[in-house]
Amino acid sequence: MSGVEEEARPLLAGVPGPGVPAAELVSVSKAFGPTPALSDVSLALRPGEVLALPGGDPARDQDRPPCPGHQHRKRPVEPQEHVRKAHAAQTVRSGEPPMRPPSSVLAEVPQRLELSLAQLAARARSLIRPGRRVILGITGAPGAGKSTVAGALQRAMTGTAAVVGMDGFHLAQDELVRLGRQDRKGAPDTFDPHGYAALLRRLKDERDPFVYAPVFRRDLEDPIANHLRIDRATPLVITEGNYLLLDEEGWTLARQQLDEVWFLDLPDEIRRHRLILRHQEFGKDPETARRRAAGSDQDNADIVRATQDAANLIVTVIDEQPIGA
Ligand SMILES: Nc1ncnc2c1ncn2[C@@H]1O[C@H](COP(=O)(O)OP(=O)(O)OP(=O)(O)O)[C@@H](O)[C@H]1O
Ligand SMILES: [Mg+2]
Repeated sequence: MSGVEEEARPLLAGVPGPGVPAAELVSVSKAFGPTPALSDVSLALRPGEVLALPGGDPARDQDRPPCPGHQHRKRPVEPQEHVRKAHAAQTVRSGEPPMRPPSSVLAEVPQRLELSLAQLAARARSLIRPGRRVILGITGAPGAGKSTVAGALQRAMTGTAAVVGMDGFHLAQDELVRLGRQDRKGAPDTFDPHGYAALLRRLKDERDPFVYAPVFRRDLEDPIANHLRIDRATPLVITEGNYLLLDEEGWTLARQQLDEVWFLDLPDEIRRHRLILRHQEFGKDPETARRRAAGSDQDNADIVRATQDAANLIVTVIDEQPIGA
């Protein structure tokens, strides 16, 4: 049995006694990547009761005797403390990324970490499972570095990963004009989320010997079909884009195909600065570049930022050198 299941069991086993619950959870499900931890669990916490102690590993915890039924009683813990711990997203600056899920299975907020690219690559590698393809999503606001980080991870993983961009499902310029949406390029309704979900499903099904994916060509400002070939033998697919966590029709179907989603966090000032430079690199004059970054790009950034709590991990990449495209 995995560590996840072992940690989940005390919660499932706990039955509250009399009294008014100080905290109640109704119908909670939780999974860590592909591993389900809780499925439709409801529980009530009453003052003085301990259903599970967040943190630590009982198997290694010398001063804590083993308890039957995995009900560890060390000291009375106020229920509010569980709730506080469950909602405290940790920031870890250094050391190897934890390969285990967060210690509290009650956590409904993502871990918040600052990691180097090498640490992220180690974490991506740890997701690979023999016998089935894993799909890792990377999301974040425009200019947060999704494409750059995904490309760098792919290079670090030497032949075991492919990168598929959500941007390949941008509607063609002609279609945007027909719909009257050409001024909102990059907004959620300027993509084909159902097409994206269908591609991810094909990648997940692993039936076809290879799958071709489209790409978005920034120089053309249009997608082109069948540009990227992903062979069935590729164990990890990294897919990146703005709306991987958007709770809207079509996008949620895409999310269902993803084993884990990382949200790239970057201070807005740096992100906007990089966006302006990139717009100029692709031919915009400085004023147009600034207007675009502060206008539609910022509107889209606000939409993306509001989805971050649905991620498995919120990460700031701490490499000081430019990663390079
Ligand atoms: N660590 C870094 N240091 C300096 N520049 C960077 C770094 N990472 C990315 N960049 C640059 O920032 C810009 C934005 O990065 P990138 O294109 O990867 O973002 P994105 O999240 O994919 O954006 P979009 O949502 O618009 O596709 C690019 O010009 C890229 O070269
Ligand atoms: Mg990109």
